[in-house]
Amino acid sequence: MLNSKQSAIETMKKRQSIRTFDTQNITTAHLQLIHEYINNEENLIGPFGSKGSIKLIQVTNHVSDKGIKLGTYGFIKNPQAYLVGVAENKKYSLVEFAYTFQNLVILLTKLEIGTCWMGGTFNRNSFEQEVKLGEGEFIPCITPIGYPNQKQRVFDKALRYVVKADNKKSWDKLFFDAAFDVPLDKQKAGLLEVPIEMVRLGPSASNKQPWRLLLTQDQKVCHFYIEHTPNYSSKLGYDMQLLDMGIAMSQFELACNELEIKGNWSVENPELPLPNEHMEYIVSWETL
Ligand SMILES: Cc1cc2nc3c(=O)[nH]c(=O)nc-3n(C[C@H](O)[C@H](O)[C@H](O)COP(=O)(O)O)c2cc1C
Repeated sequence: MLNSKQSAIETMKKRQSIRTFDTQNITTAHLQLIHEYINNEENLIGPFGSKGSIKLIQVTNHVSDKGIKLGTYGFIKNPQAYLVGVAENKKYSLVEFAYTFQNLVILLTKLEIGTCWMGGTFNRNSFEQEVKLGEGEFIPCITPIGYPNQKQRVFDKALRYVVKADNKKSWDKLFFDAAFDVPLDKQKAGLLEVPIEMVRLGPSASNKQPWRLLLTQDQKVCHFYIEHTPNYSSKLGYDMQLLDMGIAMSQFELACNELEIKGNWSVENPELPLPNEHMEYIVSWETL
């Protein structure tokens, strides 16, 4: 069962995307816990009040109870179930939805259940047959779940190599000290060093790591920006990198909670000079 004393920070350090699962079914206790979690509205509401939903679909040999084949183009081996995200295709709905989804991913990682965020390499049509979509809603992402198979496939290793999954950008590429032309030294991040480091370790679409954080001189306010990869997901009809921003907020806040750093999220653009036209302000954290 879930041990709430488990460290979220240690869990975030060890999380990796899992694409090859064991053939063992997810235990009834774990399934029940997941059901309870996704049926509790509180867990599905973001910091600004957007609400998405998450559906659990169990599969046997990639086929659901309804007999629908849920396809992932060979990316995923032996999934035991899928968690399917549903949200509105609006900027903050996507950011907030991803925040709630990542909170669940970290909870699952604590239970030693493997996950892999997927925004692209799955057959959306097949998953749409499983979930009821309301007006304006769509499926921004899914994750397969199951217990990790320790032996990665050659395919998994090749994929990690192609997307440079183990190549996380260094601090000086991601984090800035009061202005975007001054990289932030770890030593200058104060209390927020670990929350900021957790952003760096988070998953992101194609491992593009589009988060750019700017910490104010007093080390209290951290502004979150996205550096868009041009045309990254335009074919899919939504901006997948907004999900990366919600993930960053989740990782940051989980670390703050564990370190008992109190603060709030707000959307108040400080209108700072930006280094290029791909940068967009998203959200700010203010330590109280
Ligand atoms: C929003 C989002 C979408 C993703 N979409 C896919 C996908 O369609 N297929 C896939 O195999 N991995 C997908 N990933 C997983 C990333 O490739 C992975 O997070 C990244 O390479 C970093 O590796 P790590 O999660 O092991 O740290 C996605 C991740 C995120 C955050």
